[in-house]
Amino acid sequence: MPAELYGKRRNSAGFEFGHRQSLETLMAGIGKDASAIQAKPLIPGGNASGSETPVISPADHRKVVGSVRNATAADIDQAFAAAAKGFKAWSRRPVEDRAACLERMSDLMEANRDRLLALLAAEAGKTLDDGIAEIREAVDFCRYYASEARRLFASPVKMPGPTGEDNRYLWRGRGVFACISPWNFPLAIFLGQISAALVAGNAVLAKPAPQTPLIAYEAVKLFHQAGVPEDVLLFVPGGPDVGAALTAHSALAGVAFTGSTRTAWAINRALAAKDGPIVPLIAETGGLNAMVVDATALAEQVADDVVMSAFRSAGQRCSALRLLMLQEDVAEHMTKMIEGAARELKLGDPSMADTDVGPIIDEKQKAMLEAHIGDMEKTQKVRYAGKAPNSGSFFAPHIVELDKPAALTKEVFGPVLHVVKWKAKELPQVLADIAASGYGLTLGVHSRIETTIKTVTEALDTGNVYVNRNMIGAVVGTQPFGGSGLSGTGFKAGGPAYLQRFALEQVISVNT
Ligand code: SER
Repeated sequence: MPAELYGKRRNSAGFEFGHRQSLETLMAGIGKDASAIQAKPLIPGGNASGSETPVISPADHRKVVGSVRNATAADIDQAFAAAAKGFKAWSRRPVEDRAACLERMSDLMEANRDRLLALLAAEAGKTLDDGIAEIREAVDFCRYYASEARRLFASPVKMPGPTGEDNRYLWRGRGVFACISPWNFPLAIFLGQISAALVAGNAVLAKPAPQTPLIAYEAVKLFHQAGVPEDVLLFVPGGPDVGAALTAHSALAGVAFTGSTRTAWAINRALAAKDGPIVPLIAETGGLNAMVVDATALAEQVADDVVMSAFRSAGQRCSALRLLMLQEDVAEHMTKMIEGAARELKLGDPSMADTDVGPIIDEKQKAMLEAHIGDMEKTQKVRYAGKAPNSGSFFAPHIVELDKPAALTKEVFGPVLHVVKWKAKELPQVLADIAASGYGLTLGVHSRIETTIKTVTEALDTGNVYVNRNMIGAVVGTQPFGGSGLSGTGFKAGGPAYLQRFALEQVISVNT
């Protein structure tokens, strides 16, 4: 059963891979439409010329998924001009109209699930399991923010008027938002940012990651079909130059960004360097996520949860487990079990139902992972190195034993699990080491001792803490997601304080 949120709202339905007939129907649906997509900027009044770059599948470098024509600096000026006009009408539309567009978008995504799934596999290398979860998350974001907008923005709140004044508190859109999203959730995060900004009354210039413009292009077209005007949601594909043009623009009213901490710093600096209105930044960045396991934990469950948290999605989630801290007494036994489970993972074509781990997004990311393992081999022990297929950008799961937590100095975005041992009395030091990274996104704890669970969870202000389970796959509206410190600004996506960040408050006091 789908989980119930509050009231009548529900998360989108899942998929039972064990049901043969459903799986056969799904596989037939995925194979149906393999036509190449030609993505281009969607800017009313914009110039449609320019060179096209092919988009190649990370799972198979011979497969061209489509092409993209990126936006230029002139396009960005035109996009701001068009969106400024669009914003005026959109921000005055009743909240109900805007919320209804998000709900229609959810319905359209469900109706187009197989095509989106095929594209997620081909362009982003998502396994079917991950693709289904991603579409569900995108659907949930739209429905959740629609319902949150009704709760928060639908009518002005009457405030106390002790001196006889009529005081009304209300929210309105800020203006033209730039939504800059990552390749690892090219649909869910892309649409999560956009739907929040739109329903709060803003116009949006949406910039997908350069690796995944096609799914984003399809999503923007669906949003137009759902009723969002073309001068309210504009598509501006491109690389860092387009990002820089967006953040430098004088007409920018806000930025929602998900990606690396380094890029968030760069955006923050660019915004700070401008004169004029002070532009808010909502940033969700990385994590150097740890799991603390003591000697009372259930070994089988730990192995299962670790493999899921570290290797699912090829470790390309900001929530993924990077640093496993095992109590010494059980460390060897548990590492063996994890290694055994890692050996069973099937790497390969992400569009096949039995594939567990798909490719790395591109050759650059793969080279970064290879370089990291090369570095680790010099000073630490690479205990397990899986075998990867040769056809695309594959990188197999690795397990590295570290002599101390500080040996891992950066977020390594891929299927590399780092393991450190600790002695029974060292828990305070373990917690200090985790805090010292400066990140605060996800944290796992496996223990059967309540006081240990309490000690660990209270010691750290990590955004999402998972006890005796895996530490990925936060569910919209139930497990609002996001962290602090080097992991981002907050507030949490899919949570009750998110939409307010996209809106302006206003108070109207009338002397009656
Ligand atoms: N929201 C995702 C998760 O919880 C990470 O990006 O896994």
